[in-house]
Amino acid sequence: MKIKIMNGPNLNLLGTRQPELYGSTRFEDYFATLSAHFPEVTLSYFQSNHEGALIDELQLMIGQYDGLILNPAAYGHTSIALADALACLDMPIIEVHISDIYQREAYRQHTYTAAYAQHMITGKGLEGYKEAIEKLLRKS
Ligand code: DQA
Repeated sequence: MKIKIMNGPNLNLLGTRQPELYGSTRFEDYFATLSAHFPEVTLSYFQSNHEGALIDELQLMIGQYDGLILNPAAYGHTSIALADALACLDMPIIEVHISDIYQREAYRQHTYTAAYAQHMITGKGLEGYKEAIEKLLRKS
């Protein structure tokens, strides 16, 4: 099974960015833990701070992957373009937010991208990504 984890803007700073909200683990370190935990899964990781770069990467995924785990970060709340790109994908999508977006500012409580995700996992820290892989595995 081939799964891509995609993180949006500012998530390259995980580990040092607002650790009270997002924890103090670098995503690269957590990704290594995840890869070791799921040896049967071919996992890849992409992060960008740029909306167009995320969309380009999503388009390259068509027909190539069995699942997408997307933390769109702030673009989830703003980007119809990113949501449109998700609509073109031919694989299950799980949306992940590290913090609980429903316990934060009102403008974080809606995401355009969620319309195209089978599930959203929010507020479970980095463990949300692990839960998302487990969900995709149960679907396959
Ligand atoms: C986030 C929540 C978003 O509201 C925020 O803009 C982020 C991170 C999360 O993982 O909790 O950058 O997606």
